Amino acid sequence: MNLTTQTLKIAVLTGAGVSAESGIKTFRDSDGLWEGHDVMEVASPEGFEKNPEAVLEFYNQRRRQLLTVEPNAAHIALAELERQHQVTIITQNVDDLHERAGSTDVVHLHGELLKARCTFDADLILDWKKDLNLGDLSENNHQLRPHIVWFGEMVPMIEVAAEVVSQADILIIVGTSMQVYPAAGLVQYANPHVPIYFVDPKPSISETKRISVFAENASIGVPKIVERLLKKM
Ligand SMILES: NC(=O)c1ccc[n+]([C@@H]2O[C@H](COP(=O)([O-])OP(=O)(O)OC[C@H]3O[C@@H](n4cnc5c(N)ncnc54)[C@H](O)[C@@H]3O)[C@@H](O)[C@H]2O)c1
Repeated sequence: MNLTTQTLKIAVLTGAGVSAESGIKTFRDSDGLWEGHDVMEVASPEGFEKNPEAVLEFYNQRRRQLLTVEPNAAHIALAELERQHQVTIITQNVDDLHERAGSTDVVHLHGELLKARCTFDADLILDWKKDLNLGDLSENNHQLRPHIVWFGEMVPMIEVAAEVVSQADILIIVGTSMQVYPAAGLVQYANPHVPIYFVDPKPSISETKRISVFAENASIGVPKIVERLLKKM
């Protein structure tokens, strides 16, 4: 296959590491803490039942922070890939930095920070940029919660994501510890001949004939891969 002249289907799987250089912390890098919080306290249905105010405040802080940060060179390079290729970003991130960089086809596996949803009707989803508090109700009078997939909850977009990976000519993986399932299992859906590029300063996958590992920050490794895939003959 001549990778440089065709329009390719490219699936990109991103994790918290792609947003690290924008100033949003990952959690594996700090012993299972997410911005200093125990993830099970702030990212599980049990945590929300036990202390809804603390969980809402955690996401309020994340949402306020998100509105102050910008996409970095990795988000921007991935958006540029669309100039030539058909690109779908499958992200575990709840931020909107891929969209703000210009990517037009983004599948959010774990929900979106800038949306809220009804605790009674999961299909009732609203855009939400301000703080979300106890007493903020949906139109059918039920409490709203962050539109986030918590640990132990179904991942509704996983089948869409598996289909995208199974159709891809190339798979790029950026900034993920590959420890959160079912997202980590998506690689298994790739055609066995598909080249994989993996960018992470602490890579959890080893280099093989098929897998090229860039053991460096996303802002360095991703533009190199993108340049290679956009190069004209
Ligand atoms: N930005 C966000 O939306 C955000 C941030 C933190 C956590 N989360 C949630 O936490 C879960 C975490 O799983 P995960 O695998 O995405 O993250 P993770 O925290 O488990 O792993 C982060 C990975 O990023 C790598 N990394 C750190 N700095 C990097 C850089 N500059 N460039 C490239 N890689 C870098 C680390 O080596 C690590 O492998 C996700 O489900 C996500 O919903 C989201």
